[in-house]
Formats: sequence, structure tokens, C-alpha cells
Amino acid sequence: MTSTRRPATGRRAAVLRREAVLATVPVAVAALLAAAGPATAGTIGQSGVGDPYFPSAGNGGYHVRHYGLTLRYDTTSRHLDGTAVLSARATQRLARFDLDLNGLKVTRLTVDGAAARFSRDGQELVVTPRHALRKGQNFRVTVTYNGTPKPVTDPDGSHDGWIPTDDGAFVAGEPQGAMTWFPANNHPRDKSSYDFTLTVPKGRTAIANGVFLGERTAHGRTTFRWRQSEPMAAYLATATVGKFKVERYTTRDGIQVYNAVDPREASAAAPVLKKLPSVLEWESRLFGPYPFRAAGSVVDRAPDVGFALETQTRPLYDSAPDLSTLVHESAHQWFGDSVSLTSWKDIWLNEGFATYAEWLYSEQHGGDSAQKSFDTLYAKPAGHELWAYPPGNPGSGANIFGTPVYARGAMALHELRKAVGDRVFVRILRTWATEHRGVHGTTAQFVRLAERESGKNLDGLFHTWLYTKGKPDKA
Ligand code: TRP
Ligand code: ZN
Repeated sequence: MTSTRRPATGRRAAVLRREAVLATVPVAVAALLAAAGPATAGTIGQSGVGDPYFPSAGNGGYHVRHYGLTLRYDTTSRHLDGTAVLSARATQRLARFDLDLNGLKVTRLTVDGAAARFSRDGQELVVTPRHALRKGQNFRVTVTYNGTPKPVTDPDGSHDGWIPTDDGAFVAGEPQGAMTWFPANNHPRDKSSYDFTLTVPKGRTAIANGVFLGERTAHGRTTFRWRQSEPMAAYLATATVGKFKVERYTTRDGIQVYNAVDPREASAAAPVLKKLPSVLEWESRLFGPYPFRAAGSVVDRAPDVGFALETQTRPLYDSAPDLSTLVHESAHQWFGDSVSLTSWKDIWLNEGFATYAEWLYSEQHGGDSAQKSFDTLYAKPAGHELWAYPPGNPGSGANIFGTPVYARGAMALHELRKAVGDRVFVRILRTWATEHRGVHGTTAQFVRLAERESGKNLDGLFHTWLYTKGKPDKA
């Protein structure tokens, strides 16, 4: 987990340069520009949702209700052909709006069936429909595109998105990579249902999110259909391709499980995957009902990825996971997937919670107690990376997957547990998952909920553990 700080690049640097230029233009020109502003400002969708860590991520002015993705991937040439149908609703009048798409070539774009003008500007696919869309209008965008998808490099130096493997592709989009394989409103603030129709060479399997609807082979290719009906953030979508052994069953709770395992990882993965139903049952007892109708795992062999991802309903592992990683990604189904971030700076709501689930699992299954996990971390000296920045305010996109977010985030929850007692603590977690099921949450909302459920003022505790720089004095 590196956290190399990188200088402002690309779009952000361009914005800074533009501001510098504007500062020097003659007053008359500046006045003209300002005058032109209000006339159009209300009709152009913003090029980002305003996330301070990822300013270009997502777009303003519309909500995508549903994505219909039809993809064909050639595992030999690594060429992708795609059609994306976005069913959206305008949240303001729109003469123009953006989608996020990184690389790939767009060959045709229609809005409600009529060809629309489009241009590319970094990750923004800028769309000008023939007629402006009214506020509240439902509309449909169809994008036909193709090319060789490539992962994006994130501020921390990791790669995500469409990552080719020796037998297909490992498709993991956190935080930015969804736009490497489909045009999207690429920020967790926008959640949508999805249908996937994925065609790959016969002998390969293509796995997406949600319920498996069936497969059909013809002319040397197999088409797999998937449906994710509960709302999902774009970064949690996958279309992972490879040679997989598939296992399907339904749990006692009626959850449809689909596991796909690279045969080279099968013997190492088997004893861990066998525990998936009992892990989901244990987490359901603790956090409330499992939020989706489907579950499963994709265990790939993707040696240069270096992380697992909580892809919705079906976490993705770059090699056979250990049990605590399975517990972690499963806990994300409640915390991160069902309850989504509003802003990437709140990432501890995902990673701190999933890490604390590992601690609780260990405590209740004959391993270390959560107190022991806490104490081991607390013993780290003040100069340790654990204390490098506070988890509630990691400071930049380069830090969102760093040790403080995971470990000190979990420590914050442990402090909360000690302050309110086990019964109230579990009630807080369940209420959080229930009240925000399928939608969003913020740190401020979590703090308020914890105070409401416990009847305690917890400002000091959260201030210390989430927001104070350096190693906290023990409470
Ligand atoms: N969210 C993942 C997990 O903890 C980790 C992850 C996703 C990640 N993308 C990443 C870690 C990029 C480092 C870099 O389960
Ligand atoms: Zn995680």
C-alpha cells in the first residue's frame, strides 16, 4: 500500500493553466466572458460531481437509472466492441452534458435515437443533443465504441479498470476505472441498475454482477447475460473474462451464488470459498439482511494487480484469497456497495468498516480479539505510516487506500464500540446499513446516527480518531 504523492497532472493542470491565462486577459474580454456565463451556465452539465479528490469524476445534470452494456471481447487481439445504452433523467435543463470515457473510439452516439454531436476532452465525452433536454426529462443515450481498453493509473500509482490477463481480463474499477470500458457517470454518487450481454471466445467465461441469466454458444463464441437490479456505483461493475471453473448454488437464505475460479487457483481457493455462505450468514446476523439477491466470487490469476475488489455481489480476487480477505470483501457488500460513498474522502466508511469486520470475525471464531488487533496497532511508534494522516481526511486521492484508512479507520470503530458498549455498537452498524441501504452515507451522518443511538456526545472521540493528525493519546 504505497502512497506516493504525485504532482497535478492532465486535466487539473490544464485548469490551473487556464486560470492563470484568464488572470491576464484585458478587463473588457473578461467582462464579455462573464456576461456570456449566466446565459449558458444553467444549461450545461458540470464535467464532474465536485469530488475534491477526483475533480473530473462523474458528471452533473443527469442521473443514470440503468445501463445496458453489450460487449464483445477478443481475448487474442484484446479488442473490445461495445454498445452502451444509458437510460437517464435530466436533473436540470441540458443543452450539453458529459459522460466519462477514457480511451476507446466512439463511432456513433445517439440521444433518443437521433444522432448527437460529441467530442472528447480528456476523460470527458462531451455530448450535444440535437434538442436541449428539459429538466426532469427521461432520455436515452446510445454509445457505440471500440478499441483496446487499457487500465488507468491512479494517484497512488496503482492501476485499475480493464486489466488484461494471460487468458482474458481482470476488470476492477475502483476508484476510476469504470470509464476504461464503458461510458459512465463515473462517481459513486450516481447509482444505477445494469444489464450485461458479454460475448467472448468459446471456452472463456465472462462474469459480471448480479444474477446469471444464461449463456449461449454459437459460431465459436459464447454470450453470457447478467442482471444487476439493485442500484450499483459504476466502480463496482465488472466484466471479468478468463478460463474459469464455475460453481453455482442457492444458499439457505435464497441467495444465488456464482463462483468462478481460475483452475490454477482452484485448490488454494476451495477451502476459503466453501465458507462464503457461513460468512454471509454471520455478517447478516451482525449487519442485517444481505442487501442483494446474488452473491459469489471471481478468483482470477492476475499477478500484477495487487488488490482484491468488492465488485457488487461478486468480489474479485487477483489470486486465491485467505479467509480474512473473503470476510473483508463480503463486509463491503453492506459497507461500500449497498451504502455508498458520497465523496472519496469518506473512504474510511468502506475500508475501516470492512477491516473491523475482519477483527470481529477473528474474535468470534477463535482468533485474536478486536482489542488485541487494536493494541498491536496502537503499539506502532508515532513515526509509523499508520499515523501518517487521519483516516477521516486522507488529504488526496493518493492516500485513499493507505494504512491509516484501513487500520486507524477500524481503530476508530473499536473506540466507538468501547464507548457505547457491544449492544449499542452492533445496533449502530445495523441501523447504518438499514437506513442507508441502496443509497449513500457521509461521515457526518454516521456520527449523528452513533450519537442518536447511544445518547452520547461522541464529537471528541470521532474528532480524535478520524480527524486529528498524528498518533492519538489513548483515551
Ligand atoms: N477496495 C479494495 C479493498 O480494500 C482495495 C482497492 C481497490 C485498492 N482499488 C485499489 C487498493 C487500488 C489499492 C489501489 O478491498
Ligand atoms: Zn476494502
